[in-house]
Amino acid sequence: MAKLPIAFAALLALVPVATSTPFPPFNTNSGLNKVAKSKGKLYFGTATDNIYLGDKPYVKILSNNNEFGQITPSNTMKWETIEPVRGTFNFTGGDEIVALAKRNRQLVRGHTCVWHSQLAPWVEAGKFDNSTLQSIIKDHTTKLVRHHKGDIYAWDVVNEAFNEDGTLRETVFLNTIGPSYIELAFRAARAADPRAKLYINDYNIDGLGDKSTGVYNLVKDFKRRGVPIDGVGLQAHLILGQIPTTIKENIQKFASLGVEVALTELDIRMELPVTPEKLKQQRKDYEAVISACSAVPACVGVTIWDLTDKYSWVPGWFEGEGAALPWDENLEKKPAYYGIVDGLNKWRWF
Ligand SMILES: *[C@@H]1O[C@H](CO)[C@@H](O)[C@H](O)[C@H]1NC(C)=O
Ligand SMILES: *[C@@H]1O[C@H](CO)[C@@H](O)[C@H](O)[C@H]1NC(C)=O
Repeated sequence: MAKLPIAFAALLALVPVATSTPFPPFNTNSGLNKVAKSKGKLYFGTATDNIYLGDKPYVKILSNNNEFGQITPSNTMKWETIEPVRGTFNFTGGDEIVALAKRNRQLVRGHTCVWHSQLAPWVEAGKFDNSTLQSIIKDHTTKLVRHHKGDIYAWDVVNEAFNEDGTLRETVFLNTIGPSYIELAFRAARAADPRAKLYINDYNIDGLGDKSTGVYNLVKDFKRRGVPIDGVGLQAHLILGQIPTTIKENIQKFASLGVEVALTELDIRMELPVTPEKLKQQRKDYEAVISACSAVPACVGVTIWDLTDKYSWVPGWFEGEGAALPWDENLEKKPAYYGIVDGLNKWRWF
């Protein structure tokens, strides 16, 4: 026993505690996915959209497997694009992203089967009855997931189903079918591609809180009743200087139910204009979020919601805000990039 403290002290001396990548770092070329994988994560990824694939310098970064081991199509697998007319499916955009990812040896997260937003207008306008809408959800999910069978690592089967207080959001699906529409979609997805991981995905469930508890209770209920579910997606659309302090505990809580967790749409927006101080804060914020994922083995990966401020959804959505991503509009790495590297490099105790 006397030897143990000495061995332990020796071990501690070898552990890179509180690593901090100098800025600019000496190790710029290793890449986010490469670092993530070296730390036991499955991937570091990014969203992209088909309309940007003509931008060659952008595609060069996107296609660099050392930076990104996973891609999410940010728009072209959504209902309004996939099934714009009842029974008429358009897989063109999704297929293009899947083909790109295959060429680059990248995983794909499918996004998304059932969501009240960017929904084809006919779904609400049809005023379908309960059983008809059930068959519409089943048909849509089945055809979408089956089309990509074998090519998708994980599906966001149902997106943004919850209110802030943890109750279910009133949508055409909830109002017509009731809470069971969620389970219906998960069962259809499982049947269509048994090997794809099935996720429930939402925003403002990054830290502990009422909404996270709502999702937690749903996952718990699914697990108890044998409804297929494999993961919880924390979107992580975050605000500079306002990173929830309980992300790690929240991830651990979901993981305790036997599901994996991923950060699926990470960005950290700021009020414009950009200043050096804000960029420094953003670096710290990215490090904080990423290290919460690093600390929990069940957190399998992180996806940023596109890679460059040039193509971020933020300025179009939040007036006066932007600069949310690790590459700037000129495709130069920002301090945030090195915050991600530092977060990934945090030691894991297992
Ligand atoms: C199919 O979807 C793509 C976008 O993914 C769009 O550009 C194209 O126009 C659509 N095709 C049809 C026939 O609507
Ligand atoms: C819809 O039908 C299902 C049975 O298929 C039933 O359990 C559910 O309560 C119905 N929903 C509503 C809102 O009537």
